[in-house]
Amino acid sequence: APDIDGAAVKADLGELQKIADANGGTRAHGTAGYKASVDFIQAKLEAAGFTTKLQEFTSGGAKGYNVIADWPGGDSDKVVMAGAHLDSVDAGPGINDNGSGAAGILEVALAVAKADLKPAGHLRFAWWGDEEAGMVGSSHYVDALGADGLAKIDGYLNFDMIGSPNPGYFVYDDDARLEKVFTDWFAAKKIATEPETEGDGRSDHAPFKDRGVKVGGLYSGGERTKTERQAAQWGGTAGEEFDACYHRSCDTLKNIDDKALDTNTDAIANAVWELSS
Ligand code: PHE
Ligand code: CA
Ligand code: ZN
Ligand code: ZN
Ligand code: ZN
Repeated sequence: APDIDGAAVKADLGELQKIADANGGTRAHGTAGYKASVDFIQAKLEAAGFTTKLQEFTSGGAKGYNVIADWPGGDSDKVVMAGAHLDSVDAGPGINDNGSGAAGILEVALAVAKADLKPAGHLRFAWWGDEEAGMVGSSHYVDALGADGLAKIDGYLNFDMIGSPNPGYFVYDDDARLEKVFTDWFAAKKIATEPETEGDGRSDHAPFKDRGVKVGGLYSGGERTKTERQAAQWGGTAGEEFDACYHRSCDTLKNIDDKALDTNTDAIANAVWELSS
């Protein structure tokens, strides 16, 4: 897999920050900032040669949108999916939560196009609406897909907060095969990982897992406090939260650890290449 340029991921986050700034400081479901975020993601994908679909749903009386992008080709009975929620909370611009995951998978998708990848499996990327009210967009997607569609998904990878300012490297432990793709990659880079336990049932992988789909993913930490032992292996500050700006107005472009953002995005690229090959 290619090495993804961390500066490109960061530049996308700059665009999402600008979108929030121009729309009252938020990119929440039901706001103009959310729709502008959708337009930004979709335009970049279409320009790169993806076929994209906007899937609409209604939540809290407002229209919501999932962006679904398919890379043409590959075995449609062996779908490899990567997803990230694109909405923020009302309180802020949501740059770590979850501009980080949204921009990370965007740059991996663009790398797939640039490489003109011919995967054995079929690749699909998704940007979910209204995760923050309880995974509304991703739940709508799995319900609409039905049992037959779900059975064709070989694995769903979720990325919700991958650039936390006081980062840890947590790997979803829900499925051993998907977990190992990530842990092997980090081990080769001599970066310690821990199993992800904070997010079980709390992000867009949950609706997939609940319906029997194998899930995996990465997380750089949220409201929990980094221990001395974790600071010794990862750097950063013991006794402070992984993301002290979680769900706050200060979750801005400054609320990102550039190294974690780049490293996790490179790990996503590796997983997408390996799992679809
Ligand atoms: N789903 C949570 C949110 O968007 C964040 C989260 C992700 C928490 C992963 C734990 C693990 O607010
Ligand atoms: Ca990189
Ligand atoms: Zn959130
Ligand atoms: Zn989130
Ligand atoms: Zn877990």
